[in-house]
Amino acid sequence: MPMNASAPPIRPTIRGGAVSELDRARRIQRIKKLLVEQDAVLVAHYYTDADLQALAEETGGYVSDSLDMARFGHEHKAQTLVVAGVRFMGETAKILNPEKRVLMPALEATCSLDEGCPADAFGAFCDAHPDRTVVVYANTSAEVKARADWVVTSSIALRLARYLKSQGEKILWAPDRHLGDYIRRESGADMLLWQGACVVHEEFRAQALVDLKQKYPDADVLVHPESPEAVIALADMVGSTTAMIEAARTRPAHRFIVATDNGILYKMRQAAPGKEFMEAPTGGRGATCKSCAHCPWMAMNSLASLESALTTGAPEIHIEESIRRRALEPVMRMLEFAASQKTEVLGLGNA
Ligand code: 13P
Ligand code: SF4
Repeated sequence: MPMNASAPPIRPTIRGGAVSELDRARRIQRIKKLLVEQDAVLVAHYYTDADLQALAEETGGYVSDSLDMARFGHEHKAQTLVVAGVRFMGETAKILNPEKRVLMPALEATCSLDEGCPADAFGAFCDAHPDRTVVVYANTSAEVKARADWVVTSSIALRLARYLKSQGEKILWAPDRHLGDYIRRESGADMLLWQGACVVHEEFRAQALVDLKQKYPDADVLVHPESPEAVIALADMVGSTTAMIEAARTRPAHRFIVATDNGILYKMRQAAPGKEFMEAPTGGRGATCKSCAHCPWMAMNSLASLESALTTGAPEIHIEESIRRRALEPVMRMLEFAASQKTEVLGLGNA
């Protein structure tokens, strides 16, 4: 489970680098005070800035994957949940906890999967296939979740597909086509896929990974299943973010090539001190920007935006009640299914 508690403190690097060390320390102190004053707890995703992950750990908050963030927020007694991540994570927290105030450092922090699956078009897709069980990835809007039979995260998607297949059910899957296709290949389930993709994982390049692996033949390749099939084919281990960290900790290799957002390296280094981690190669320079292994929306979470959210009480997540209630059912189904799998929710490839 999440490695929040006992790992040795590791100095976070400052992304952007424009903030002086003194300003940074002062800001961290102010945020800690605000969290206490406002009965607030910070829940951060592995892809957020290391400063935020460290703050969550130091203040009794939580750092984890999207499934466990939802579970932690649901079980925690704080009246305010501050969700550092992307919007669907804040929405999931609100779906589960309507009585709580849910703040986010940046509401514009969305996700290409969420953006690429508008509720109207998705509804029409579902209407056209009424014989299929609708399974949506957590990386979707509350409106899309409201249309689903099941919500899943990458840590339980394969298990659920196997379960539904055993029940004779055909699946309509959205939105990530790479993850959906991976689950289809692994489970053999009958799956109809929405054609969304993650802008970060889609940039990993198979040939460049082959070249890097040739240079470091002792390195294990860890791949998140939102990556393209050709990249997954080169993996020593495929799994969710938590499963990847666990693999870094437990596998005997001392060197790893990591194909997911590089924010995860903070936790990997904490979980496996002394081991070496390299980012998997991405597409490189494009017409307008240089692709990198970092989610542009996760990067909107900073100490400054977190302090501002706590100071101003905004942005706050609000969801229309009828949508929230409909979305709650498949989200609760996800948590109950995950709980029924007990401790076995870590992996995908090894599930
Ligand atoms: P996890 O569900 O593993 O946290 O992943 C979320 C995500 O956005 C992956 O890109
Ligand atoms: Fe969405 Fe990809 Fe960013 Fe994850 S890394 S939040 S899937 S855009």
